[in-house]
Amino acid sequence: MKKVLLSATMVLVGASLVACSADKHADNLAKIEDKGKIVVAMSPEFAPFEFKTLVKGKDTIVGADVELAKAIGEELKVDVEFSAMSFDNVLASLKSGKADIAISGISATKERQKAYDFSDSYYESKNVIMVQKAKTQDYKGFKDFDNQAVVVQKGSIQEKIAKDNFKGANITPLTKVGEMVTEVSNGKAQALVLEEAIAKGYAEKNKNLAISTIELPSDDADAYAIAMPKGSKKLTKKVNEVIKSLKKEDKINTFVQEAYDLSVKE
Ligand code: ARG
Repeated sequence: MKKVLLSATMVLVGASLVACSADKHADNLAKIEDKGKIVVAMSPEFAPFEFKTLVKGKDTIVGADVELAKAIGEELKVDVEFSAMSFDNVLASLKSGKADIAISGISATKERQKAYDFSDSYYESKNVIMVQKAKTQDYKGFKDFDNQAVVVQKGSIQEKIAKDNFKGANITPLTKVGEMVTEVSNGKAQALVLEEAIAKGYAEKNKNLAISTIELPSDDADAYAIAMPKGSKKLTKKVNEVIKSLKKEDKINTFVQEAYDLSVKE
């Protein structure tokens, strides 16, 4: 009898613990609404999605992801606060509670989905290789990069993509995309791996760089989506509504194009 009671109690305790932790998350939408503010984690060195520029003489974070965040803020009727950090800290900031949501050109890979909730995707991405323009003809395949230096962004999916494809190269992760571009530009590295929409802007601004004709495999799971802490069911539903209506009006492509124009203009 005692044993039965004991295990019944344990089941109850267990159930209420589960209920509690589910509650905590179910509340993250309410929590955001209560504080009247949503904190968005991003790494603003990734034009046209997020980058810094002078707006009326003031250093401001702008870009397609910023517009997306603002639309979410409007839908939730809360202020939007951007929390800038390096990309390798963006997802972790959701776990530590530093940010409520992460919008940073994040690919919603299966691996990441185990640890975070993701919205529907809002942008299809494609990986490309950038090299010095004068050398584009020298590089015809991955083997041509054996014993050469390839740079990728730290914490990005390109770390693995580079490892899987450039079997004989020395791959170095760097914190910022700008650093990667400088390394290739000055010849310290021979190639970088980046997504096309971002690489295009850098090629436009750095005339000695070009996108290589060597193709990298692309995966549908690498499309960009918004990341949230696990258990963000209600928040995800709201965010998906915003994405759906922006997509319907083709607004996201407009955001990307406008931000691109602004980023290459400087
Ligand atoms: N899509 C890639 C990833 O999720 C790179 C994203 C980098 N974003 C940034 N703001 N630097 O791993």
